[in-house]
Amino acid sequence: MINFHSKKIIVLTGMMGSGKSTVGKNLALKLKRDFIDSDLEVSKASELSINEIFDQFGEEYFRSGEKKIIKKFLLEKNKNLVLSIGGGAFIDKELRNLINNKSISIWLNASYDTLLKRLNKNTKNRPLFFGHELKVKLQELIDQRTKYYKLAHLEIDVNGLHVSGIIENIIKQLDRNYNKT
Ligand code: S3P
Repeated sequence: MINFHSKKIIVLTGMMGSGKSTVGKNLALKLKRDFIDSDLEVSKASELSINEIFDQFGEEYFRSGEKKIIKKFLLEKNKNLVLSIGGGAFIDKELRNLINNKSISIWLNASYDTLLKRLNKNTKNRPLFFGHELKVKLQELIDQRTKYYKLAHLEIDVNGLHVSGIIENIIKQLDRNYNKT
């Protein structure tokens, strides 16, 4: 039985390759919530892929579109949502504070080795790695970002777990921490 009960949006953050989209979709199913992926919404709004946005307009332009979209969902009436955000979104202070005020934020914490294994299979939709050596850039991003991800309300260690195990752990933590709000 799930005791978790909250009128707040659930936001999933963490590095590229940490599983936010897959976990988010399945968590939403389990909690009977709608699922939104910020990257998909940014893409839809601009009618361009993430690669095309980076390529044609640059990262800053992408970040401002991403911020706008995430704010829109945080401030929307429908709170019955699981929202997976792009790996860089939680680094922006204003956005991070808004997310932490308006939602329950969950950091999917994956180790360097886990991320490297997953990203090795697919970096073609991840423009931050273009022109860089994956191993070096990945470590750099982890070093820059971990201190911000740690500011999420909950942390889930996803290493060595399948989606079902990750969902189980998320629900355990939600049950424990958010059964009355
Ligand atoms: C980014 C992560 C990507 C996407 C963009 C930038 C990042 O999303 O938003 O390529 O800065 O970490 P995912 O984390 O969903 O791959």
